[in-house]
Amino acid sequence: MSQTDWTTSLSAIGLATLSLIAFKVTRQVSVYCLPSSLPRYNQSGNNWAFVTGATDGIGFGFCEELCSRGFNVILHGRNQEKLNRRVQELQAAFPERKTGVVVFDVVDVVNQEVDRIAAQVRDIIGAQGKLSLLVNNVGGEMRPAVMLRELSSSDVDATINMNARFTAQITRLLLPFLEERHEDGPSGFVMNVSSFSCFGLPYLSIYSATKGFVTTFTRALEAECRAEGRGVEVMGLLVGEVRSGSYKVEETLFIPKARTLAQAALNRIGCGRVMVAPYFWHWVQSVSFEIFPRWMLMKFSVEKMKSIRANVEKSQKSK
Ligand SMILES: NC(=O)c1ccc[n+]([C@@H]2O[C@H](COP(=O)([O-])OP(=O)(O)OC[C@H]3O[C@@H](n4cnc5c(N)ncnc54)[C@H](OP(=O)(O)O)[C@@H]3O)[C@@H](O)[C@H]2O)c1
Repeated sequence: MSQTDWTTSLSAIGLATLSLIAFKVTRQVSVYCLPSSLPRYNQSGNNWAFVTGATDGIGFGFCEELCSRGFNVILHGRNQEKLNRRVQELQAAFPERKTGVVVFDVVDVVNQEVDRIAAQVRDIIGAQGKLSLLVNNVGGEMRPAVMLRELSSSDVDATINMNARFTAQITRLLLPFLEERHEDGPSGFVMNVSSFSCFGLPYLSIYSATKGFVTTFTRALEAECRAEGRGVEVMGLLVGEVRSGSYKVEETLFIPKARTLAQAALNRIGCGRVMVAPYFWHWVQSVSFEIFPRWMLMKFSVEKMKSIRANVEKSQKSK
C-alpha cells in the first residue's frame, strides 16, 4: 500500500470512530432531554401509585413528586406512626390527593402472609380505582461497609429479604392490578430501584448481589411483559450516592437529595432504556466504570468503604 492509501485508510477509521462516539454520546444525552411519558399513566388524573419504603429518603421523595404530578399514593412502610406522619405531610402539601398505607416489615417477608397486601390495595383504591405505577424502592443493607464474615446469619437474610425477596413478591402480587385496562390509556409501569453497587462492590457483597438480582429481574420482567403485550412497562434505576434518611451525607452535584433523584427517575419514563442512571451526574460518574480498569475502581472503592466504616465506628463510639 502506498503512503496515500495508508493516510486515506487511517482517516476513514478515525472518522468512523469519531462518528460512533458522537452517535453514542448524542443517544445517551437524549435520554436526559426526552419528555417523560408519565402523564400517559394518569390520564384520568385519579390513578394510584404504590411506593415501597415510602416513609423516608428516596421513597418519600417519590411520594411527594407523584402527588405533585397528580397521582394518589399508597405508602408502604414498617412503622404505622411514621406512615401516619408522612400521610399528614402529604395531605397538608397536596390536599386534593388521596393516600393509603400498607404496613409490612419486609425483613420478615418469609414468615408473613404477603398475599394479604393485594386485598389491602383493592380496599384502598376501590373497585373502580386504577393502580398504574409500582415503585419498588425499599432496600438497603443491615450494616454498612463490613466484611462478609462479620455479618450474622440474620443480617444476610434480612438484606436479601429487603432488597430482593420482597421486590419479587410485591411485583408478582401487583402485576394483575397494573395489567387492568381502563379506557384512559396504557396499563401500568414498574420502576425498580437498583444501584451502581450491582457491579460488585467490596464490603457490600450481599447488598451488591441483591442489586444484581434487581437488575436482572428488571431485564427479564421487561422482556416478559413486552412479549405478553398487556401494556405493562418495566424500567430499572441505576442509582449512585443520594442523601437520604439512612445516608446523611452532604449534598453535592454528584450526591443529590432524595426528591431530586425521584424527580429525575419519573422524568426518565419513556426514555427507551430498560436500565437507566436517572440522574445525569450519576451517569457522568458511571462512565468511569467503562473507562477505568476494574483494579483501579476497586482500589478507590476499598478506600471509600474504609472511610465509611471509620465514620460509622466514630459515631458509634461517641454515642
Ligand atoms: N441513598 C443512596 O445513596 C442509595 C444509593 C443507591 C441505591 N439506593 C437505593 O435506593 C432505595 C432507597 O434508599 P434510601 O437511601 O432512600 O433509603 P432510606 O432513606 O433508608 O429509606 C428506606 C425506606 O425503607 C423503609 N424500610 C427499611 N427497612 C424496612 C423494613 N424492614 N420493612 C419495611 N420498610 C422498611 C424505611 O422505613 P423507616 O422509615 O421505618 O426506616 C424507609 O421508608 C434503596 O433500594 C437503596 O438500596 C440508595
